Amino acid sequence: MAKQYKAAIVGCGSIGQAHMQGYLRLGNVDVVAVADPLEPARQMYMDNYGISQGYATVAEMLEKAQPDLVSVCVWHLLHDTVSAEVATGPSVKGIICEKPMAIGMRRANTMIEVCEANGVKLVISHQRRFTLGWQKAKELVADGKIGIPLRADLRVREGLVNWGTHSIDGARFILGDPVAEWVMGAVERTTDKYERGTAIEDSCLGLIHFGGSLQFFIQSDLWDRSCDAGKFFIRGTEGMLHVRETVLKLFNAESNGWMDIDLGLKEGDQAIGGNTNAAQTQELIEWIEGGPESRGSGRKARDTVEVMMAIYESARRHQVIKLPMEEKEYPLDLMIAEGKLPLEVQGRYDIRGFLDRSNIDESRYQQLRDNGIQHHQAMRTVHEEMMNS
Ligand SMILES: NC(=O)c1ccc[n+]([C@@H]2O[C@H](COP(=O)([O-])OP(=O)(O)OC[C@H]3O[C@@H](n4cnc5c(N)ncnc54)[C@H](O)[C@@H]3O)[C@@H](O)[C@H]2O)c1
Repeated sequence: MAKQYKAAIVGCGSIGQAHMQGYLRLGNVDVVAVADPLEPARQMYMDNYGISQGYATVAEMLEKAQPDLVSVCVWHLLHDTVSAEVATGPSVKGIICEKPMAIGMRRANTMIEVCEANGVKLVISHQRRFTLGWQKAKELVADGKIGIPLRADLRVREGLVNWGTHSIDGARFILGDPVAEWVMGAVERTTDKYERGTAIEDSCLGLIHFGGSLQFFIQSDLWDRSCDAGKFFIRGTEGMLHVRETVLKLFNAESNGWMDIDLGLKEGDQAIGGNTNAAQTQELIEWIEGGPESRGSGRKARDTVEVMMAIYESARRHQVIKLPMEEKEYPLDLMIAEGKLPLEVQGRYDIRGFLDRSNIDESRYQQLRDNGIQHHQAMRTVHEEMMNS
């Protein structure tokens, strides 16, 4: 009989809902507890999902709920410390930590070291690795349908570490998880821009070389409105692929022009959501039970973090950065501290600042939620009302 797993969610905000939806689809997982310092946030999860245990701290949750699996759904700068604390929980066997894995290589390395030292399997939630479009694209590449892969074109926005992590990680997945050899990057930051508390750039681009003939080119927050973290154009010696989570097109000598690839999508299949979170959790459980390393393991995600950090480090040093890179802190923070990115517009702002629930009118937020307004929009509305009052 399949073992029953106890799960807990740390961080009762927006993406925790997708983790919850994933757990709800699995018969062998029961969500027994949540942890969040904000009482209304954890109470909302407890009420909505019938979860009996809610804690203000991770330590108390680990001690009292004794979970096997823990979702770490807090902002990026807390991923390393919260994951490390969770990994020391005596009952914990697996962690699903949100993307981006970590801000800087020291933090990413610490997560892997602490998890491995405690025998805990670490997955980073690049959940699009489980979409049908990306999985089929990976198969076609492995079957030689585009010959030798030469170039992946990635276009994202809303911050390299925010969307870029999905995109770089996704292209690596489709192309067999290559490890980069060198990176060259350019960064502009003339406004004091943050995303969920992490400094980000106004715009950037990077050329990433993987050895052999493979390169990625990524542009982020430039003037390309067709950008999307889930979309790639991949060119090889014998063909090309247009890849999305739910759409895949192949062009090669046999395709008679662009050919739509049947992904076997069923009605109601989502691009991302509970289905991908469930698949990600199931693969983690198989890994815990002795199966192969998850496709979304911390070790694989660490290589994606390194590419992003190397783009910043290249801009910082005006050099090509060979990997593994030496700098272990966040090169963008270092550049800011070193005065290398002078501001033209003063005033710190955060493009996801509206998610901060610590200082909102909770009754107004609840009112919007009761009227069926989604979490993001309700938070944004309450923050806008506060700013204008
Ligand atoms: N994989 C994806 O597609 C995807 C999508 C959205 C967000 N994310 C990631 O998820 C993470 C969370 O983003 P979000 O949008 O859900 O944020 P959010 O602000 O909606 O939720 C974060 C929650 O964490 C809580 N929290 C803060 N400190 C805590 C602590 N020490 N212990 C427990 N809880 C704590 C907050 O009170 C809040 O309720 C981010 O790193 C983000 O990049 C990933």
